[in-house]
Amino acid sequence: MPTEDQSTRSWTVRPGRWDLVLSADERGQQTIHVLGRGDHATVVIDALVASFLADVHVRFVHVVPSVSASDEVAEAELCRNPPSGLVVVNGIGFVGGANRRELAYQQLRASQIEISTVRHPSAVVASNARLEPGAQVMAIASLGPYATIEANALLNTGAIAEHHTTIGAHAHVGPGAVLCGRVTIGAGAFVGAGATIVPGVSVGERAVVGAGSTVLSDVPEGLCVVGSPARPIG
Ligand SMILES: CC(C)(COP(=O)(O)OP(=O)(O)OC[C@H]1O[C@@H](n2cnc3c(N)ncnc32)[C@H](O)[C@@H]1OP(=O)(O)O)[C@@H](O)C(=O)NCCC(=O)NCCS
Repeated sequence: MPTEDQSTRSWTVRPGRWDLVLSADERGQQTIHVLGRGDHATVVIDALVASFLADVHVRFVHVVPSVSASDEVAEAELCRNPPSGLVVVNGIGFVGGANRRELAYQQLRASQIEISTVRHPSAVVASNARLEPGAQVMAIASLGPYATIEANALLNTGAIAEHHTTIGAHAHVGPGAVLCGRVTIGAGAFVGAGATIVPGVSVGERAVVGAGSTVLSDVPEGLCVVGSPARPIG
């Protein structure tokens, strides 16, 4: 059963269960399924809760466990028997790489299930910026003119992706990172919290940029760089 608190719009997640999380007003409203039950799921749910103020058609959240092996079974079950009107968001974050998030996305797409885009109402998104299906822009993040977030990629809390920047599919830009203008982040890449990437630089597919690093030149595919200026490790 849903937990309900109309006065505070409070919500709880009980990990490890198919569990209804929030309802301010359930009448005729839609259920949203959140993949994952880790930290990123809580950030995504918070964005959904904030959206309720603006979107009365979304009212409560259903958590699909999806980190352990048994969670993958739950996802597979969702793919086999999708409830009618299914709405799914990806709550899987950076778990030792972007793979788990990407795999869940691919699995659902293979079952013709669309992953919904999440945009926190406090995020600033330029009128001509583009969010592809499943893209996420979290609280107080900023996406500049002509910037694109490709499918299932994530611009996390307070991060800035300036004009003409592209964040490739399944990539994860951490909290407070700054991507100056015309930056390209490759598919599946990870940019750590607070990193800065100077204008025009490309980060290759599945590359990793350490937290707080300053990236002054292109990062090849798959490489991990850290520091200021950023240098390869590993
Ligand atoms: C880059 C990163 C992935 C590397 O992790 P790792 O492979 O486990 O690397 P290690 O911790 O073994 O560190 C290896 C070396 O790099 C250095 N290093 C690691 N991360 C660094 C960083 N962000 N800046 C500067 N140096 C760093 C370590 O000091 C160590 O140096 P040493 O060999 O001289 O002792 C990780 O440190 C990081 O920055 N993660 C980002 C976390 C984040 O922003 N999360 C946001 C979640 S929403």
